[in-house]
Amino acid sequence: MQKKICLLPGDGIGPEILAQGASVLAAVAQKFGHMFEFDEALIGGAAVDATGSPLPEETVEKCRKADAVFLAAVGGPQWDGLKPEQRPEKGLLGIRKALGLFANLRPALLLPELAGACLLRPDVAARGLDLIVVRELTGDIYFGEPRGIETRNGRRTGYNTMMYDEEEIRRIAKVAFETARQRRRKVCSVEKSNVLETSRLWKEVVLETHKDYADVELSHMYVDNAAMQLVRDPSQFDVILTGNIFGDILSDEASVLTGSLGMLPSASLGASGPGLFEPIHGSAPDIAGRDKANPLATILSGAMLLRLGFNLTEEAECIENAVRRALRDEFRTEDIMEPGMIKVGCEAMGRKVIERL
Ligand code: IPM
Ligand code: MG
Repeated sequence: MQKKICLLPGDGIGPEILAQGASVLAAVAQKFGHMFEFDEALIGGAAVDATGSPLPEETVEKCRKADAVFLAAVGGPQWDGLKPEQRPEKGLLGIRKALGLFANLRPALLLPELAGACLLRPDVAARGLDLIVVRELTGDIYFGEPRGIETRNGRRTGYNTMMYDEEEIRRIAKVAFETARQRRRKVCSVEKSNVLETSRLWKEVVLETHKDYADVELSHMYVDNAAMQLVRDPSQFDVILTGNIFGDILSDEASVLTGSLGMLPSASLGASGPGLFEPIHGSAPDIAGRDKANPLATILSGAMLLRLGFNLTEEAECIENAVRRALRDEFRTEDIMEPGMIKVGCEAMGRKVIERL
């Protein structure tokens, strides 16, 4: 198979972890006889410094021409003071929108090898944690208009618009139901329909869409309750279907329960065109450039890229198994370090995975 992959290293630990992610993909290509051609482009603060924009037009073009986009992380304190349009995060939101990536898949899985790092009480953890958040990614209060800060009645007033149309809801609901069919066939739709009209429509359209997926069990939960249930008993969830802002919050919560943000990958997909694959953690500027970052979330995002982007299931499993073997052989980066384990840096961890492919 011949494929083009556009690398977006971004900021902070981004370049270090993406170097490992790309090396693993290159090693897999060699092992299975594929040709992966890598291109690289600027995004986030690095792009602001070089061009004045967090998402240069050239980057969008390179991504559009690729078969998949492999992104690390954006942001850092040195860009916090910039105008909203120039902030590194705008680069990330912009590329999602430009590529039409409306479906964000964020699996949270507690690996037995890392059970010791899990934040839950052992009896709760023993019930298991294997869920996926299906988050809508190009609508909601993130993009709704009008938005702004202005003076009303002599007071500075900030406002945003939470908004979904039925088609946006339907297409993400379908993704959730299809995803559930590959898993334990349970979808929990999370909203706030006791208060918000947007959520009332959300629930209505999810119910309508469910008619074509009678083999999948559907439940509904208010977002405040969902935040609580995630901690109380995450084993009750299989697929969590939710909007952009609720999904942003719940996916951080779900992922950190597993013990390390440094372990979790994600995929963002559109109706057609390249998908974007990235770790769910940020750019960790405090440890950037010191070979301390955990590259496993990025490496596992590479596995998602192969499975969901290129339909290469065996190759994806090869990466996932190699990661688990490296953990079983007791290699740990600092963020998941436990007594008695072997501490390694970012580059060494990448190498340990490659040796086990
Ligand atoms: C995420 C991040 C982004 C978001 C930020 C960096 C814009 O938190 O991918 O979850 O809010 O979507
Ligand atoms: Mg987030």
